[in-house]
Amino acid sequence: MNSEEIRKRFLAFFEKRGHAIIPSASLVPENDPSVLFNTAGMQPLVPYLLGEPHPAGKRIADVQKCVRTQDIDEVGDNTHDTFFEMLGNWSLGDYFKEEAIKWSFELLTNKEEGFGLDPKRLYITVFEGDANAPRDDEAFNIWKEYMPENRIYFMSAKSNWWSAGDSGPCGPDTEMFYDITSEGLGDMSKEEYMKADAEQKVVEIWNDVFMEYMKQDGKVIGKLPQKNVDTGAGLERLAMVLQHKENIFDTDLFSTLMEKIQEGTIRSDSRARVIADHIRTSVFMINDGVLPANSDRGYILRRLLRRAYLKARNLNLDLGTLHEVALSVMLHPSYAGVYTFDQDRTFSAIHDEIHKFKETLDAGLKEFEKGTDAFTLFTTHGFPYELTEELHRERGTTTTQNISGVSNIMSKAEFDAKFKAHQDLSRAGAEQKFKGGMADNSEMSVKYHTATHLLHQALRDVLGDEVGQKGSNITPERLRFDFTFSRKMTDEEKKKVEDIVNEKIEAKLPMNKVVLPKAEAEKTGALHFFGEKYPDEVSVYYIGDSLETAYSKEFCGGPHVSNTSELGRFKIQKEEAVSAGVRRIKAIME
Ligand code: ALA
Repeated sequence: MNSEEIRKRFLAFFEKRGHAIIPSASLVPENDPSVLFNTAGMQPLVPYLLGEPHPAGKRIADVQKCVRTQDIDEVGDNTHDTFFEMLGNWSLGDYFKEEAIKWSFELLTNKEEGFGLDPKRLYITVFEGDANAPRDDEAFNIWKEYMPENRIYFMSAKSNWWSAGDSGPCGPDTEMFYDITSEGLGDMSKEEYMKADAEQKVVEIWNDVFMEYMKQDGKVIGKLPQKNVDTGAGLERLAMVLQHKENIFDTDLFSTLMEKIQEGTIRSDSRARVIADHIRTSVFMINDGVLPANSDRGYILRRLLRRAYLKARNLNLDLGTLHEVALSVMLHPSYAGVYTFDQDRTFSAIHDEIHKFKETLDAGLKEFEKGTDAFTLFTTHGFPYELTEELHRERGTTTTQNISGVSNIMSKAEFDAKFKAHQDLSRAGAEQKFKGGMADNSEMSVKYHTATHLLHQALRDVLGDEVGQKGSNITPERLRFDFTFSRKMTDEEKKKVEDIVNEKIEAKLPMNKVVLPKAEAEKTGALHFFGEKYPDEVSVYYIGDSLETAYSKEFCGGPHVSNTSELGRFKIQKEEAVSAGVRRIKAIME
């Protein structure tokens, strides 16, 4: 069954059962500045889940475009992608578990109206209960009408409680998994089922969320005024199962794209998969109004396009291939009838970005020839390690063996360690930008980086040692700093932190750096991520005349300004929760 048919059958099934079909909202959220892209079908519908009447009624079905980039490094395996479409049926205070489960089962297994999947290959999970909500016996009992009891498993909130973030509607869910092995797995104990899941022998194909709870700052605070149903089935996953493929890139959604990159039927090269995935996502972003830039949404698009281009270059392909893949997306039968694309805008966005990137690459190449090390090439020219590696390969040298006399040698392990120390991994939230750290090395970003060190220490001065860095994200316009702390800061505390940072700026303190063996660096009391793997030698940046008297000391890869007098006046714009026990500060310098 091709993806057009899957889409059609899903919507027709629910239309017949009283649901209004609504179009996908834009990838760019309209009313929610806290997320860059819609990451689930529920995001555009939040006001209606909270009780506002939806103009189309209480029963809705849709296919929502979504972007999730937190697993970007996994793209290239069998199931990960950065763009997907989520099929969903919605009850906004109307039907609840009985109908939701019945219809899920019917649609999955019915041959005429639905997908005709084999019920003997289905496995179900339901919520086991915790302090927030009881065990979902209701869902379990309903499922028993359709499924043998020994293939329904109770699971913890970790897998069977759904929310799109830190605050908002949420609830327990029941998830449907399908056995994709050729031999068939048959009855399984919970342990066997969990192993099969980990080995991707079963794949999740649908999730029914019973949304009747409300979360605030990471805590469930009570019930919503109405009971809702939010279901989500990924089109790519369903296509994979219904087309008997082992990976999403072999489904009809990707096959025409893959053909432009690789001849024949071998689609296992992860580079080709990355190109197809990233270009598909880029096309959808561009057509929802995003253009490459150095911050926020535009930054994600920039990274996707640049990464796709690097992979193409690696396969001896060029910009032309990226254009062809983009065109295949726009002409794809599963998309062309549903979405509108502006071909000129798309081609020129891709073209302009790659041309700009080529210039950066050329400048970096000159540095490479001079012997600049792989890490500096990355931080100052945006050269990913794999590119330096590739250049070595072209020249018959390696990243660890220097034959030609250049000194840009650094093993991947060494690079990764430096990279980790340099980059404050942003771990909070599902809707994060790539990985945190600095978006670029512009003059302003470097200033914000130094200001981040001052802020970190000032927060510890005012709030105590409970404060620890969780993430950081810097653009030329502002800094964003996530840290552990259990409650909202008071206005007075914010003011104190601002005053301290500004005092340190006015004191014209020098920023210094020493490279020390790790154990010695730790002894200085310099701040770092506990449990993080650092290389044997680390750089410690300290603000002040000597390491002993320094105001701030941190393990860090730089770059920084040389004196705090270069910074502007520091101002906190916002302090908010990111998740339970994690706060976020956004600050600017004027
Ligand atoms: N909102 C639910 C999900 O994304 C259905 O899995």
